[in-house]
Amino acid sequence: MNAKQLAAEAAVALIKDGMKVGLGTGSTAYFAIQKIGQRVKDEGLKVTCIATSVQSEELATSLNIPMAGFEELSYLDITIDGADEADHSLQLIKGGGGALLREKIIAYMTGHYVIIADDSKYVETLGKFFLPVEVIPFGWQRTFDHLSRLGCTPHLREKQGAAYITDNGNYILDCDFKKITDPGQLQTELNLIPGVVECGLFVDRAQTLIIAAADGQLTTYH
Ligand code: A5P
Repeated sequence: MNAKQLAAEAAVALIKDGMKVGLGTGSTAYFAIQKIGQRVKDEGLKVTCIATSVQSEELATSLNIPMAGFEELSYLDITIDGADEADHSLQLIKGGGGALLREKIIAYMTGHYVIIADDSKYVETLGKFFLPVEVIPFGWQRTFDHLSRLGCTPHLREKQGAAYITDNGNYILDCDFKKITDPGQLQTELNLIPGVVECGLFVDRAQTLIIAAADGQLTTYH
C-alpha cells in the first residue's frame, strides 16, 4: 500500500455509522473515497456525503456512496481531504487540484476536518509550493497586478494552452511566495483584493493531520 492510501485508510477508519461526511479532492482523497465506497458496500456503512469537486462527486456516485446537497446538509461531522503543504501547526496550502473554493466552503461547515498526505507535504514553513488563488476572469490582469504587489510572482494556471477553468467558472493564479511566515495575515490581505474569490490558505481549520511515510509509518498531529 502506498503512503497516500495508508493515510487515507487511517482517516476513513474515523467514520462511523450515521455520519455526514465531506469528500476531498485529489490523488490522496481519491483513496479515501475508494475506501468509503468499499465500507458502504462491504459493511453497509451508513453515511451521507457531499463532495468538494465535480470529479470527486462523480467518483463517489460511481461507488454508490449516498450523496446529498446543501439543502439537506448544513453541518458535516467529518471531512477528509488532501493538502499541498501542511506545517506543524496544521496550517495548509490547498488548491493544487483547483478545488480550493469548494474545499474551503466545505471545511467551514465541518466539525472534524482531517487532512491526509504523504510525508512530502509536511513542511517547516509554508510557501515552497505555489499558493493557488481563485480569481474572477473579469479584469484578472489587474487582480494579477495587485497580487504581485504582495510580494509574489503569480502565474495564470493553464490547461492545454488555455486558461484553466475551475468548477466555478473562474481562473487560478498560482502565486510563488517562497516563504509564508504569517498565513493568517496573508489570507486577509489576499481576500481583500477585488477579483479574488478565495485563496488556498487554510488557516486554523484542520484538527487532525495524518502523514504517512513510504515505509508505512503513520504520524498523526492534532
Ligand atoms: C485540490 O484542489 C487540492 O486542494 C488537493 O487537496 C491537494 O492539491 C492535494 O492533492 P493530492 O492529494 O493529489 O496531492
